[in-house]
Amino acid sequence: MHPVIRHPVFDLDNTLLVEAGTELSPAFMKEFSRRNGARHAAVSLLEHGSVHADLLRQFTIRPYDAIFSNPAAAATVLDVMERITLPLPILRILDHFREQDFHTYRHMLMISALSTLILSHLEPRRRKPEEDKFTHFGPFHDVGKYSVPLPVLLKRTPLTSDELDLLRHHAVSGYILLSYYLGDHEGLAAAIALDHHERRNGSGYSRGIRLNNLVVEVTTVCDIYDALVAQRPYRPISYDNRTAIEELTWMAQRGEIGWEAVQVLVALNRGDGRLAGKIQVSLERRGAPPEQNVYGKLADEKENPATQ
Ligand SMILES: [Fe+2]
Ligand SMILES: [Fe+2]
Repeated sequence: MHPVIRHPVFDLDNTLLVEAGTELSPAFMKEFSRRNGARHAAVSLLEHGSVHADLLRQFTIRPYDAIFSNPAAAATVLDVMERITLPLPILRILDHFREQDFHTYRHMLMISALSTLILSHLEPRRRKPEEDKFTHFGPFHDVGKYSVPLPVLLKRTPLTSDELDLLRHHAVSGYILLSYYLGDHEGLAAAIALDHHERRNGSGYSRGIRLNNLVVEVTTVCDIYDALVAQRPYRPISYDNRTAIEELTWMAQRGEIGWEAVQVLVALNRGDGRLAGKIQVSLERRGAPPEQNVYGKLADEKENPATQ
């Protein structure tokens, strides 16, 4: 099933990259990703702007302080992130969010950090840098939100169906932008952008495929977790940590996501990711979503089943 572009995607200089209605066939993507890639110098992520300082500060903020106060966890993540280099346009997208939508900026950094940490407990590290899939967990997954109008990203009240459609298009836009700027449409970064809202049972978007890639799914689990615990424009009160973990365990129970990454997240929250698989994950519901919660609600429909 090939993704289809529903809204035009522009580059950072506002030049049209892909028209609405284009089907992203393998042949199209091969030609498209060759057009620009490798023309941009790669720049160190952590040496860019205030990224390093911003990341260290986020490590100290609840609920992430419980995970990253473990020096080994912080060291694992920083060791990988120090080796991430990105084409300048991707860093310009990060800068755009730092100035215009700080939540999305910190969200992209923290999903990169947390997914790196979870994957380090699920997969052995590779020796050769070019085989190191950890470094593909850069702040990529929501790059496509660059194509979403800021008033939609920052809206404090429930979205309309049309606005939700624009927002959900970020997965395909991110796939386009990363394929273009990295010159690689088959790499992990592009796959993470395209498929991080898919679910194992096919109930996600953009393609409605059955997600079958543990590395992508690690990002999916981190994305859902952060969407619940972080303060959002439309939800000043966030989920507490226990309720957020309960939501994830129920999603695993329903077959939307797998247990592997959830178990590591639970273990990390108990102080040590190495406990994953050895501790019991409770299915008992004890927490409660915050009052005034509009997460997953639409302005013109009753409920939106998938995360945004
Ligand atoms: Fe996303
Ligand atoms: Fe996200």
